[in-house]
Amino acid sequence: MKALTEKLSEYFAEAFVANGYERRYGEVVVSNRPDLADFQCNGALPAASEYKKNPRQIALEVIDALDEEIRAGIFAEVGIAGPGFINIRLQDDYLAGHVEQMAADERLGVPLIAEPQRVVLDYGGANVAKPMHVGHLRAGIIGQSLNNLFQFRGDEVIGDIHMGDWGLQMGMLIVEVERRQPDLIYFDAGFEGPYPEESPVTMDDLQEMYPAVSARAKEDPETMEAAREATQALQAGRPGYRALWQHFVDVSIAALKRDYGELNIDFDLWYGESHAYPYVEPMIEALKAEGHALESEGALIMPVDRPHDTTEIPPLMLLKSDGAALYGTTDLATIYMRMEELEPDMMLYVVDARQSLHFEQVFRAARRGGIAPEPIGLEHLAFGTMNDAHGKPFKTREGGVMRLRDLIEMVREKALSRLQEVDAAQEYEREEREEIARLVGLAALKFADLVNHRAKDYVFDLERFSSFEGRTGPYLLYAAVRTKSILRRAEEQGVESGEILAPAGQEERELMLKLTELPDVIAHAYETRAPNHLADFVYNLAIVFNRFYREYHILSEEDPARQSSWLALSQYALAQIELVLSLLGIEVPERM
Ligand code: ARG
Repeated sequence: MKALTEKLSEYFAEAFVANGYERRYGEVVVSNRPDLADFQCNGALPAASEYKKNPRQIALEVIDALDEEIRAGIFAEVGIAGPGFINIRLQDDYLAGHVEQMAADERLGVPLIAEPQRVVLDYGGANVAKPMHVGHLRAGIIGQSLNNLFQFRGDEVIGDIHMGDWGLQMGMLIVEVERRQPDLIYFDAGFEGPYPEESPVTMDDLQEMYPAVSARAKEDPETMEAAREATQALQAGRPGYRALWQHFVDVSIAALKRDYGELNIDFDLWYGESHAYPYVEPMIEALKAEGHALESEGALIMPVDRPHDTTEIPPLMLLKSDGAALYGTTDLATIYMRMEELEPDMMLYVVDARQSLHFEQVFRAARRGGIAPEPIGLEHLAFGTMNDAHGKPFKTREGGVMRLRDLIEMVREKALSRLQEVDAAQEYEREEREEIARLVGLAALKFADLVNHRAKDYVFDLERFSSFEGRTGPYLLYAAVRTKSILRRAEEQGVESGEILAPAGQEERELMLKLTELPDVIAHAYETRAPNHLADFVYNLAIVFNRFYREYHILSEEDPARQSSWLALSQYALAQIELVLSLLGIEVPERM
């Protein structure tokens, strides 16, 4: 079904056209002055400058040209304000009827997009053998939310974790395992396999080894050289190294699945950078043959500057002088691989803003080399940093990188004590209480992240995030759970939902208007790839809904038609709240 603004826009577009103006001026939007109007059409102003006329005059003509019947059936008031804005107030019956239609719609009134796209969404980036840290948290939270949003709109989304599994750190680990366990079969160059199924190292081993060997390599040139050689041999396909590396990848994926799983974040493809490696050589050959790749001081580079650049964009380095591929090479080859294997319409990258230059170079190279030509979309959806109270990137108390596991644990504990503070879930079995605490903690963490525009830095403030008051995840969960329990009680009392009647008063009317906004909000969040619009909306909806049910008492209402109408309206409001929270990746418990 059509969004309310779309219907209204069509009526106004007709009226603009009837006077010889362009259709697009008829666009109707939610009013930014709800005290004066429900909706407004601002098209007379830009039309005035195009047609060199007085905007108020145009607005008058447009209002006069509105279809009589439509006018009588829909609008309570249509008037001109200020220099030529058209203010619109709807009739109560019409408003309620539209909400009724939305509530009956299986998609809650949100249309599917006309032309679904196949979208590759790259929002992982965690690394093999390294614990996930808070830097990966934002990518996961924002990316999963975009994934949900795109799917809900009808796109086919392919989420790819794009693990870091192919760089120098792999060579370092090989060297370190060899130093500790030189007799392992993986280091016997003459051995032809098969190799053992069981990994000689656990995730804990790897996490302990990596910082140790990386520190040693910094001090000791021999270790560094050995790591480089091992990396090269691995990439060239030495069987023992490949087999050992596969164990690193497997144990890492198991750990990552658990960590992402705790956050309800998932991927369709658990590919690593290594997955693109077979494409590096053919890609480079093609780039060379077409004259895009040039030798420079022994290295192979690809210039990506453009004539009108205002800042210098350095060439993308494809191969170092020792022949090794770099981070940019794998990202470019990954685009190549995705075009071959997945044939997407666009590729979106949810990655830290500090990698902007990297993506600028890679995307330009992909265009220039014809690897992903227009109109294939390539977008870096950059996000800001999660900072501590002093404005520095978030660290542990000791100053180290905060592990994701520790962060999640901290948040869960905080959520448990918050539940105790507000005396919620206290009489439930321990297991249920802990699950509720997990969901409250996740809601706190995710909502606090998503309520900011992704490009903004924000300060991690667990005290505030976990509060049951204010613009927080826990507040929203609480509002949703309380509504569920009211609706349950109404059903127990035998109240049945019925036709949604014209609003009984201001609070109900405001709730209905807010509910009509959902399709626009979803479209806007989608077009700007910015889930914060969803977070904003669901918070405002919860506030308006709160006011509504403080004012009208469903359970004690005596008029059965009114009671059934309020029940239907509340059910629909709850469905919207739950939908938007689910798009944000936030799960609502049954009770609290
Ligand atoms: N592995 C990288 C890191 O930990 C992030 C990868 C982001 N995605 C990409 N396609 N480059 O910083």
